[in-house]
Amino acid sequence: MHLIRRNRILRQSPAIRAMVAETILRPADFIAPLFITEGTGIKEEISSMQGYYRMSIDLTVQEVKELWSLGIKSVLLFIKCKDELKDNKGTEALNPNGLMQRSIRAIKNACPGMVVMTDVALDPFSTYGHDGIVEGEEIVNDPTVEVLAKMSVSHAEAGADIVAPSDMMDGRIIAIREALETSGYTKTGIMAYSAKYASCFYGPFRDALDSAPGFGDKKTYQMDYANRREAIKEVLMDVEEGADIVMVKPAMAYLDIIREVKDSVEIPVSAYHVSGEYAMIKAAANMGWLDENKAIMESLTSIKRSGADLIATYFAKKAAMLING
Ligand code: PBG
Repeated sequence: MHLIRRNRILRQSPAIRAMVAETILRPADFIAPLFITEGTGIKEEISSMQGYYRMSIDLTVQEVKELWSLGIKSVLLFIKCKDELKDNKGTEALNPNGLMQRSIRAIKNACPGMVVMTDVALDPFSTYGHDGIVEGEEIVNDPTVEVLAKMSVSHAEAGADIVAPSDMMDGRIIAIREALETSGYTKTGIMAYSAKYASCFYGPFRDALDSAPGFGDKKTYQMDYANRREAIKEVLMDVEEGADIVMVKPAMAYLDIIREVKDSVEIPVSAYHVSGEYAMIKAAANMGWLDENKAIMESLTSIKRSGADLIATYFAKKAAMLING
């Protein structure tokens, strides 16, 4: 044969492959989600997320320092609210001395360089486990947005660098931006969960925070996974309303959406490799059916290749260690 082009030339050795690799993961690509609980010295494994833990503030701070030393630049905080503090209006979410606010302060104190992102939604604080205020059977939009805006200001006050509304209410990005401006928090960023789908892959997360919806589902606010154009509509609106980063969630079943979002906006795009995606890899690896490290790197690379500038993933630490060698 006389071939003009032999594609295998550029695949023939690890060195050549490394030279022409198009997508390179870096620890700075990752956002490490952290689950925080009350107490000291507490580290509880989440049953549906083997190898992932809820930790008290003191141990969380140690973990954050370790993540920083591995080159990870941001953490995304979630707290497990005590049952007796939950109500319908998310009152505890606004407590200046609440677990979230104390966690932000402790982390910024111990590791000032780390970009602290905070979850903004009512579900961990809600007796109903919904992301907004419930009236009858309805999750009401506008009163919820008011609380989310106050919650964001409260996180900014505690020192959060970026607030991350994950609730999917309408108009919350502009409301949060206005509230931050009005309160003088002109350096606080907003990472909008813009295209967040109603997904079964959030199951293990709801175990982690004991935040499963008490009735119904989240389909009146989270997106229908059948839809693609609607994601672009959501994203463009959030950009107009002042989002600094837009997110697609989950990640691996939505790579087409990530790509399309990436091609539609000029701001960074993040993707959330969610709890169920973590659990699937873990479960298969435990059965000996998948090589865990390889599955992690292939999954995260595919998410970055699809267009994600940032990836929130429970594998952040492990992947950073693998990358660093
Ligand atoms: C809730 C929230 C959820 C996740 C992040 N914020 C769950 C939900 O919408 O029910 C899911 C994260 C994951 O599954 O890893 N506001």
